Amino acid sequence: MRIGVSTGGGDAPGLNAVIRAVVKTARRRYKWDVVGFEDGFEGLINIKDVMRLDEQKVQGILPQGGTILGTTNRGDPFNYQYKDMDGSTKIIDVSDRCLQNFESLQLDALISIGGDGTMAITQKFFEKGMPVVGVPKTIDNDLMATDVTFGFNTAVTTAMEAIDKLHTTAASHHRTMVLEVMGRDAGWIALEAGIAGGADLILIPEIPYDLDAAMKHIRRRYARGSNFSIAVIAEAAEPREENGDGEKPRRRASDTAGMFFSEMVRKNLDVDVRTIILGHLQRGGSPTAMDRMLGTRFGVHAVEMVAEGKFGRMVTLEGRFVKDVSIAEAAKQQKLVDPDGELVRTAESLGIFCGRSLK
Ligand code: F6P
Repeated sequence: MRIGVSTGGGDAPGLNAVIRAVVKTARRRYKWDVVGFEDGFEGLINIKDVMRLDEQKVQGILPQGGTILGTTNRGDPFNYQYKDMDGSTKIIDVSDRCLQNFESLQLDALISIGGDGTMAITQKFFEKGMPVVGVPKTIDNDLMATDVTFGFNTAVTTAMEAIDKLHTTAASHHRTMVLEVMGRDAGWIALEAGIAGGADLILIPEIPYDLDAAMKHIRRRYARGSNFSIAVIAEAAEPREENGDGEKPRRRASDTAGMFFSEMVRKNLDVDVRTIILGHLQRGGSPTAMDRMLGTRFGVHAVEMVAEGKFGRMVTLEGRFVKDVSIAEAAKQQKLVDPDGELVRTAESLGIFCGRSLK
């Protein structure tokens, strides 16, 4: 047998752990050949970039962030953009070419590692007859089909460490520090890093925040003698429509969620404020033990699925067990924070402001 592996979408710590586990399991247990496609589906469109993967190639990659295969969040073979001779951008379907390339390489299966976008494309290839297995990744942890994705724990740890460091400057200068974290439309990173780092406010997209109540919370902390505040804000967090003055404050398009909230604190309270946008630092660096474990377990399971002919399915974690679900089902649903769920309740029980007045 000969299998292909590719990584698509944004990188996440733990991708190399998956690649390593796939290669080692395929070679040691099944004596299969493994090839890697470079830069996601781009490598399947132009197969000149195929990389032969053996034990030597994956040696030492477990602690490395990123992906040795490269990745991209462009290059959907079903809607492939290219520049025509006349300089205009054209969109064509090159999926048939991918299938031909797959066959010409005499591959028996493709293990496709990626987020929801990559899984949607992987499903389309499955419907066209390609034997595929999906492995989910995202630092955002927003896939319903799996309890957790690798990359998330590393991102949360990085954000938590940032909160730890910000505490010292916040306390020394009596400042309000606003830390903006990633997460796309979900507040998982903000919520978990905020709880783990002991933040005073956590603002997430799932709970449009009451700006007046947020200001009161910060004011009360200063009045009580806690002379600083740490606010963790998810990149998609927004104030709610109805605030104290009955009008939703408008955010300029050029301002991020964190910049906007800082501006509101500066305007409404007479305190020193700083904004820190953590950005891609959350996607980089060495994966935590948890992400190395998860990536490794996912990689081994993906190869076992190929061996069992379980195609059109994606690896998942359910409780303590690695299982799999159909990609068609998995790609459909996004997992968001439940505003009345246990995690928000945990934060609020500790007195952390989560966008609404604390009971
Ligand atoms: O999905 C991962 C993620 O890092 C999101 O948290 C963030 O919104 C987005 O990707 C950033 O994408 P890019 O790397 O293309 O700027």
